[in-house]
Amino acid sequence: MDNVWCERLGVELGKPDALGICHIGFSSSEAYDFHQRYTKGAHLRRLETVPFHQSQWESPYYRKTLDRFLENADLAQAMILDFGCGDGRFADYLLQRGAHQIVCVDFDYATLAAFGEHLTETGDRDKVLLLHTDFDHLPFAADTFDVILAIGSLYYLDRQYETGIARLRDMLGQDGVLITSDPSIEGFMLRALVFNGLNESLDIFRSRRFREVTDASAPGFRAFDDGEWRDIFRAAGLTVLDRQGISLFHNLLRVLFLKGIVPEEQLRERQDDIESMFDYLHDHGSLFKHVVWKLGKKRNSDGAAPSQHVVDDAFFIL
Ligand SMILES: C[S@@+](CC[C@H](N)C(=O)[O-])C[C@H]1O[C@@H](n2cnc3c(N)ncnc32)[C@H](O)[C@@H]1O
Repeated sequence: MDNVWCERLGVELGKPDALGICHIGFSSSEAYDFHQRYTKGAHLRRLETVPFHQSQWESPYYRKTLDRFLENADLAQAMILDFGCGDGRFADYLLQRGAHQIVCVDFDYATLAAFGEHLTETGDRDKVLLLHTDFDHLPFAADTFDVILAIGSLYYLDRQYETGIARLRDMLGQDGVLITSDPSIEGFMLRALVFNGLNESLDIFRSRRFREVTDASAPGFRAFDDGEWRDIFRAAGLTVLDRQGISLFHNLLRVLFLKGIVPEEQLRERQDDIESMFDYLHDHGSLFKHVVWKLGKKRNSDGAAPSQHVVDDAFFIL
């Protein structure tokens, strides 16, 4: 690739395609098949403009969380990775906050193309490298990034979550920040109990896996409680710097609306109250769909980073 990105990142990226997207390749996986089947769900930037969509309701709270987590980050100087960027909901936010070196990775070509088009319209195309690849093919060396985002994307690695997050840790600079947003088991157990019945709720509890769609043949992905997530981060050589739950209510209300139980008229009439309730839940709620974690590299007592990480998955209930 004849641009500055190869130099900045110290990797060979090959020739970009007609839309300026670089391809590194990827392997087929359950997660890839799932996303190709339910591809609409990854266009969360575009879906923010759809009235009463979950993305419209939850995105402001994600941004509020990122405002806090990145308060002290020098985004203008930072090299940033957005893993599983979708159509760029949060890369777009980072650009608005002054970032201008963002590597956006996704194995779904359509979302990358949609984001590329948006960047051309906003004049930010040269600030973003669009990389079509999967987690296993990420080419980056240790200490490459100052900020890594993995919002609603890393848990699709399923059994490889632990090794995956340890790899992201390695790609992070010593004082870097890794922000990941992952499913909260209690939220998904409640959602399943209400809409799918007791058996599904108990299955989630037992297996620590949930299905994102009602199709019983769809794969399950990881969901844990806070203590279990913390154990995974600790084993990967990461330390929790901050955390913020994203309320389950956005998702519940969306499902109730789609099922016709809460009518559109009522959502329109009570819009202000709904917003006040969401504001309240962001600050005081305890039932979450996802929890957003701000993570940093763990240091030894002498201040140095540990030389290797131990990935211990023995405690999983399988
Ligand atoms: C729920 S969407 C979230 C998108 C974006 N982070 C956001 O919050 O708007 C998850 C995204 O991760 C991508 N993804 C999941 N697993 C991946 C993998 N192993 N390699 C690359 N991309 C992946 C999907 O294609 C999808 O675009």
